[in-house]
Amino acid sequence: MAKNKIVVGCQWGDEGKGKVVDLLAEKADIIARFQGGANAGHTILVGDKKYILHLIPSGIIHRGKICYIGNGVVVDPFGLIEELELLRKEGIDTGDRLFISSAANLVMPYHKLIDSLQESKRGNDGIGTTLRGIGPAYRDKVGRFGIRLCDLYAPDKLREKLDMYRKTRSDIFSGTDDERADMGKIYSDLLEIAPILKSRMVNVSIELAKHHKDGKSILFEGAQGAMLDVDLGTYPYATSSNTTVGGALTGLGIGPKMLDEVVGVVKAYTTRVGAGPFPTELFDDAGEKLRETGGEYGATTGRPRRTGWLDLVALRHACRINGVDKIAVTKLDVLDGMEKIKICIGYTLDGREINEVPLDLSDLWHVKPIYREFDGWMTSTTEINDFNALPEKARNYLGFITEDLGVDICLISTGARREETIVM
Ligand code: IMP
Repeated sequence: MAKNKIVVGCQWGDEGKGKVVDLLAEKADIIARFQGGANAGHTILVGDKKYILHLIPSGIIHRGKICYIGNGVVVDPFGLIEELELLRKEGIDTGDRLFISSAANLVMPYHKLIDSLQESKRGNDGIGTTLRGIGPAYRDKVGRFGIRLCDLYAPDKLREKLDMYRKTRSDIFSGTDDERADMGKIYSDLLEIAPILKSRMVNVSIELAKHHKDGKSILFEGAQGAMLDVDLGTYPYATSSNTTVGGALTGLGIGPKMLDEVVGVVKAYTTRVGAGPFPTELFDDAGEKLRETGGEYGATTGRPRRTGWLDLVALRHACRINGVDKIAVTKLDVLDGMEKIKICIGYTLDGREINEVPLDLSDLWHVKPIYREFDGWMTSTTEINDFNALPEKARNYLGFITEDLGVDICLISTGARREETIVM
């Protein structure tokens, strides 16, 4: 039986899942995304060509692979069409190999408007969202005000839904003349693009079940990371979806037995964008060096990412809630020039030592990291393709992580290119 893998982020997103999915997609037949939306920015470098995908699964870059966007994803239909067009211009045909769940909720222009209004009302207490309308779209989904892909093909009902929405949300829309709240325009724009998406609309759950039965190998592609999970992350400084394995089951309509292996992606240090607690955050030269060497600027928003040392407490949490089998360690090369490298092995909270992430943020804001310091290896790892050829100090660093987490490494990324990878 083919092996189905799921790739999930183990930190606050931006772990390098795009590259890992791109590499694993080589051996898969199908790639399916299950949550999030255009808040994601998955970067893939093929030769000199850089692709940044927000909605479409990263596997699409591999010609011939079939890709699905599940019901758990919130789809900005206009953004999706732009992304399809970009791929077409790059000569990547998606015609008969990208499909979207008819039950996927759509991100409407007014969701983006609400996202920015909310963030500006929150002022200094803002979440620092990507302003892609993700939170408002998921809120409408759960509140049962959502518009789904299938609704585009029942125009009268669609018009009714849009009008009803405007009526029931007059608290937000009164007094605004922003065109993103103009339901007449949204209606006609949606009808204009509906024919483009029609042939891509499927029941993803049924399709995946068929592929599974036929022995095809499926790769499940997560977005964001465990610490941004709406239930188990640093709520409310989180995204609005389940970024962990549970999200794949509900976001695609599959049973747990379809998942054979959970691959957790771990960046060799930590980054975070947006607000919220980050116990190992650095405010010194080392943090700046990680940001500059690692090119730590958001792929979706361009914002500088906050940087810090690797946090094993957060990673233990991520591995447990995902049932991680193996980790893919990314951006090891970014540490190549660091004389000293630290790993957080525990926290202290009011003088007490703790080894797990407190779910109550009023505690997490106050924890202090306990560090183990390592000597850096001070030599380039980028050209290395064999684990045993890594400098001993780099092997020690990685060994310390795997021993603590109790999981093996399946691959190590030492650069953005496909070939800059150690496969284990
Ligand atoms: P939202 O998902 O746009 O609502 O943003 C909520 C939080 O999740 C903010 O802190 C964002 O910066 C963060 N976030 C959302 N998507 C990503 C991602 O793909 N990578 C990293 N952070 C993300």
